[in-house]
Amino acid sequence: MIPIDLTGKIALVTGVGDNESFAWFISKALQAAGAKIVLACHPRMVGIVDGILGREADRESRLLPDGKTEFKPEKIFACDASYDTMEDVPETVRTDRRYAKYSEYSIQGTVDAVGKEFGGIDILIHSIAFSREITKSLIETSRKAYYEAMGISSYSLVSLIRAAAPYMANRPGGASVVGLTYVAGDRVVPHYGGGMGTCKAALQMDAKQLAWFVGDRNIRVNLISAGPYASRAARAINKDFDKLIEHAASHSPLRRPIGPEEVANSTLYLCSPLASAVTGQILFVDCGYNVMGT
Ligand SMILES: NC(=O)c1ccc[n+]([C@@H]2O[C@H](COP(=O)([O-])OP(=O)(O)OC[C@H]3O[C@@H](n4cnc5c(N)ncnc54)[C@H](O)[C@@H]3O)[C@@H](O)[C@H]2O)c1
Repeated sequence: MIPIDLTGKIALVTGVGDNESFAWFISKALQAAGAKIVLACHPRMVGIVDGILGREADRESRLLPDGKTEFKPEKIFACDASYDTMEDVPETVRTDRRYAKYSEYSIQGTVDAVGKEFGGIDILIHSIAFSREITKSLIETSRKAYYEAMGISSYSLVSLIRAAAPYMANRPGGASVVGLTYVAGDRVVPHYGGGMGTCKAALQMDAKQLAWFVGDRNIRVNLISAGPYASRAARAINKDFDKLIEHAASHSPLRRPIGPEEVANSTLYLCSPLASAVTGQILFVDCGYNVMGT
């Protein structure tokens, strides 16, 4: 037997917004393999995630694959991936009551706090995407929304890795960054609006470049291109999102939709010693949909 043992590894996971997020399932899989999980959630989502972690009604969603142990992160930090440092935060956001309770929620400040408190970072998960005009097709998308989507959904990977690299450098067995992308970064998916297709294309090229820039410190950078799945963000794309999932399922070699646990398990592989020579790659976890011509 070859077990995946991440005992003692520190995993910083972004993008948990609720118990349907890909990042939620990824966090559970990493904890099940022994890693300690530190969450960096959007400041507006911290309370929601905290509630899910404590409520009896949500207990089942916290269970790890053994059916007994519950998911429990070491700590939750507030982090808005729009801001590299607190100097970037505009006054209107600073004074917003949902932000005002935190003195630090920039990428650099959050990563520094995690790196110092936990003595380093072995695993970094980027599971963030946002476009305020997601329901508009690319041709209708405003410049402002396009730039904002690129900043939050793509540049944030560059910023997170720049901040985390000193804490991830030359860890025992190496360190691993995994991000989430979608087939719309390679091919035209008309309903995937608000500039998000472009964001994913940028994310994919950036992941390959970043693999080079941090590879000399034994930090690997890979992406998972997930098939469609009805998370909160995905449901915002289109009210008929279920039909899109059905279409992808019936046109995939495996003739079924993906499950979020399958994305989590592939993430686990990419973070494990089994993938020690894998970097700069995009792993499709989509029941094979991307190979089809229809
Ligand atoms: N669901 C799908 O069909 C699908 C398919 C392929 C790829 N993906 C990708 O998976 C990743 C996770 O999406 P999901 O489907 O789990 O949805 P989700 O809504 O659960 O996750 C998106 C997360 O991004 C966070 N976020 C948005 N703006 C942020 C900001 N400024 N700062 C910090 N966090 C911010 C949200 O709080 C949320 O937790 C995204 O990159 C998405 O593009 C999703």
